Amino acid sequence: MDSIIVRGGGALRGEIPIAGAKNACLALMPATLLSDEPLTLTNVPRLADIATMTQLLQSLGAEVQSLADGQVLAMSSHDARNHVAEYDIVRKMRASNLVLGPLLARHGKAVVSLPGGCAIGARPMDLHIHGLQAMGAEIELRDGYLHAVARNGLKGAEIELRFPSVGATENVLMAATLARGTTVIRNAAREPEISDLATCLRAMGARIEGDGTGTIIIEGVERLHGATHPVIVDRIELGTYMLAPAIAGGEVELTGGRRELLPAFCEKLEEAGIEIEETADGLKVSRPNGRVRSVDVETAPFPGFPTDLQAQMMALMCTAEGVSVLHETIFENRFMHAPELMRMGAQIEVRGGTATVTGVERLKGAPVMATDLRASVSLILAGLAAEGETVVNRVYHLDRGYEHVVRKFRGIGADIERVSN
Ligand code: UD1
Repeated sequence: MDSIIVRGGGALRGEIPIAGAKNACLALMPATLLSDEPLTLTNVPRLADIATMTQLLQSLGAEVQSLADGQVLAMSSHDARNHVAEYDIVRKMRASNLVLGPLLARHGKAVVSLPGGCAIGARPMDLHIHGLQAMGAEIELRDGYLHAVARNGLKGAEIELRFPSVGATENVLMAATLARGTTVIRNAAREPEISDLATCLRAMGARIEGDGTGTIIIEGVERLHGATHPVIVDRIELGTYMLAPAIAGGEVELTGGRRELLPAFCEKLEEAGIEIEETADGLKVSRPNGRVRSVDVETAPFPGFPTDLQAQMMALMCTAEGVSVLHETIFENRFMHAPELMRMGAQIEVRGGTATVTGVERLKGAPVMATDLRASVSLILAGLAAEGETVVNRVYHLDRGYEHVVRKFRGIGADIERVSN
C-alpha cells in the first residue's frame, strides 16, 4: 500500500489548476441513463470514484469511453437494458445510489444495492426513497437491495425534503425530468453541483427552474436528447488547496477558483487573517506574517461551511492562535482525523459533534493513518505545517477524490512524495 511523505516547513508559492468537481461528475454521469442519445462530459477529473461510476454504468449496459487523457467522457445509454446495480460495485462508493432515479425513470424499475462509501456516519437513504415513492414508485428493501417499481410510470409530485440532502435532490431531480406532469422539490439542496446537474439536464431538453434555490420545479418531458456539458470546478479541491498557503505561509493562485463557490469558507479564512484576492484567472490566497487567528466553524448545507472542508479547516486551526470550536452538523462521525492530528501534537477535544481545538505554535511530523477522503488530505495539510517528516498511510482514500495530489502540491514547492511500501 502506498504512503505519502511530507516534510514541513517551507512557504508555498505558485499556481494550482483546479479540476472538475468529483461530486458534480458523479451525479452527471448517471444522467446518461435518461436518454438514448450520447451525453459527453468535459473537464472530467481523473479519479478512482469516476472509474467506479464508469464501471457501474457499463454494468448497466451503457457505453462509457474515456477520451483526452481521461478529461472527456463520451457516454451512450442507447443499449443500456440492465436495471440491476450490483453490490460488488455499489459497495465501493455511496454515490452509486444516484443511478436509482434515472433507472426508474428509464425502465420503470430498478434494483440497487444499498451503498457503502466513506465511513462517516449512518447515511441512510430514506429521503431518496420517500421522494421517489411520492412520484408513484413502490420501493422495498430485500437482501440488501432496494427494489423499486413504477407500474404506471413516474408522475409529478410535491416533495418536501426533511433535510436538503444533495443525493436525494439529485435522484428526484433526474427522475422528475421524465415523469408525467410537474414535480416540485421543496427544501431542495442548493449546492452548486445541483445547478450544474440542472444545467446539463436542460441542455438535454429537460424543463427545470429554481435550481440553486430551495424550491426546484421540474416539468416532465417525453424524452431527453444528447448534449455536451463541461463539469463545474471542484469547490472542495479549491478550498483544500486554498488552505495550503494558509497553513504553510506563502502565496498561491488557484486557477478556475471562484469565491461564490465557497462563500462561508472564504469568510472564515478571512476572519482567520488569510488574504483572498479575486484575479482574472481565479483566486490568489496569501498569509501575511504571523500566526493565523482561531475561528469557530459550524458545517451546514450550501451556502454554509461545507462538511467536506471541516477536516482541512481543523488542520489549520491546530496551529492558530487561540481556541477554535468546530461543530459538525451534517455527519455524526466525522472527526476521525482528530486523533491522527493529535499524534502530531495538536490539542483537540472531541465531544459528540463538537471539536475544541487549542492552537499550538508548531505541529510535529509523525506517522498517521488516513481514515477517509477528506481526513487524508487534512493530514497532508497538517504535515506542511509540521516540523520534520509526516508519513500518511492508507492513501488510497485520496485517489478517490484528489487528482495528481502529489504533483499539485509539488507545483507550489511542497516537499512531498509518494512511496510504495
Ligand atoms: C454529498 C456529497 C458529500 C458531502 C455531502 C454533504 C456527493 C457524491 N457527495 O453526499 O461529499 O459530504 O453531500 O454535503 O455529492 N440523509 C438522510 N437521509 C437520506 C439522505 C441523507 O438522513 O436519504 C442525511 C445523511 O445521513 C447526512 C445528511 O443527510 O447526515 C447529508 O447527506 P446528503 O446531503 O444526502 O449527502 P450525500 O448526497 O450522500
